[in-house]
Amino acid sequence: MSGTPALQRPYAGARVLLGVSGGIASYKSAWLARLLTLAGADVDVVMTPAAREFIGAVTFEALTGRAVHSEIFGAGNALDHVKLARSANAIVVAPATADFCARAASGQANDLLTAILLAASAPVMLVPAMNDHMWAHPQTKENVAHLRSIGYHVVPPDEGMLAAGEGSGPGRMPEPEAIFAHAGWLLEDRRALGGKRIVVTSGPTREPIDPVRYISNHSSGKMGHAIASAAWRRGAEVVLVTGPTNVAPPPGACVVHVETTEQMRDAVARELPNADALIMAAAPADFRAAAVADQKIKKSAAPAAIELAPTPDILASTIDARRVGCTVVGFALETTDVVAHAREKLSRKQLDLIVVNDATEDGAGFGVDTNRVTLLSRDGRDEQLPLMPKRELADVILDRVVRLMDGR
Ligand SMILES: Cc1cc2nc3c(=O)[nH]c(=O)nc-3n(C[C@H](O)[C@H](O)[C@H](O)COP(=O)(O)O)c2cc1C
Repeated sequence: MSGTPALQRPYAGARVLLGVSGGIASYKSAWLARLLTLAGADVDVVMTPAAREFIGAVTFEALTGRAVHSEIFGAGNALDHVKLARSANAIVVAPATADFCARAASGQANDLLTAILLAASAPVMLVPAMNDHMWAHPQTKENVAHLRSIGYHVVPPDEGMLAAGEGSGPGRMPEPEAIFAHAGWLLEDRRALGGKRIVVTSGPTREPIDPVRYISNHSSGKMGHAIASAAWRRGAEVVLVTGPTNVAPPPGACVVHVETTEQMRDAVARELPNADALIMAAAPADFRAAAVADQKIKKSAAPAAIELAPTPDILASTIDARRVGCTVVGFALETTDVVAHAREKLSRKQLDLIVVNDATEDGAGFGVDTNRVTLLSRDGRDEQLPLMPKRELADVILDRVVRLMDGR
């Protein structure tokens, strides 16, 4: 997930307990608190006393609009750990220090945050962040393995620049946007797509002309990646087959990177026999150069024309690889006779649903964060949807996919 979810409040009504322990990465948790709050969640921040050495409680208070909790003892706090634990729909501890992981792994309850973990029944996610040697230490590994074994969802640290003078290595806290995506996985109802395997294609493909030039299109991958994220948050096992994009893939998806339409077709054909649904949100290039030059074509030797040849039609050419009952969703991006073309494609490619957008409409189609589409179904239930963020549209499409799967 990237950017600020400013237009949507997908977690309105959810209560997230954000635990912050005393690591150098705790400054990043302020942005995480902001992302969760913007997404509509009520965020209760609980800081360890050490965390207050790194960042002020007032920052979190201002960002969440709610009181920050820290003390296990104190007037009026007697049962805070139980109340906070019971009211949370999800608990996220970011950063989780080495010391915090050790305390949590041994069941200690000597501060407010560890006491809350023991009293809670909500799903718990820990985001360890520390110096690379601390992360590699066998004791930390044992603590983290134990935390996983008791059901905590542990997001491993990234590799990269550590605190000043500490060089680079595994231990760095992932960016708040990635942690936010994981938190969505905790908050979402994962029953609808639990146990389902969904293949999503995304982005453009590139067809080489010579070693440095290619034919492609303006697809950004935003729509396909949003669908893959939403399917993953709803519990599906997601395979994302993607052309080159700058969009971060969902953290839990198996990502297959491809360049050309033929490679995308081969990847889809490989995945289809085990797929419960295929959602083809990619914009594969329809044409390739009939002959690809081995060497860079010199400017002085530029050909007057490049002969084109069609690329394989992925949906049509993989129909036989679909398993019985596989739900298939296609996308159509047209500029003329938009609905008529899409209806023809729906039947020719044996689709259950086609998402139709008009590339000439404002706010719809390639590159932008929003889309205005019409959904055409095989069962004749057509729906014209208003302009909406791609993330929201991904959820609407998945609602229809669940309905189609249930109806089989
Ligand atoms: C400048 C500084 C940076 C620190 N950064 C980290 C860190 O990134 N990760 C970590 O596990 N501990 C870090 N520590 C050590 C913890 O602050 C220390 O273990 C503390 O007792 C953790 O308390 P808590 O888990 O209750 O928050 C750091 C300490 C200092 C002085």
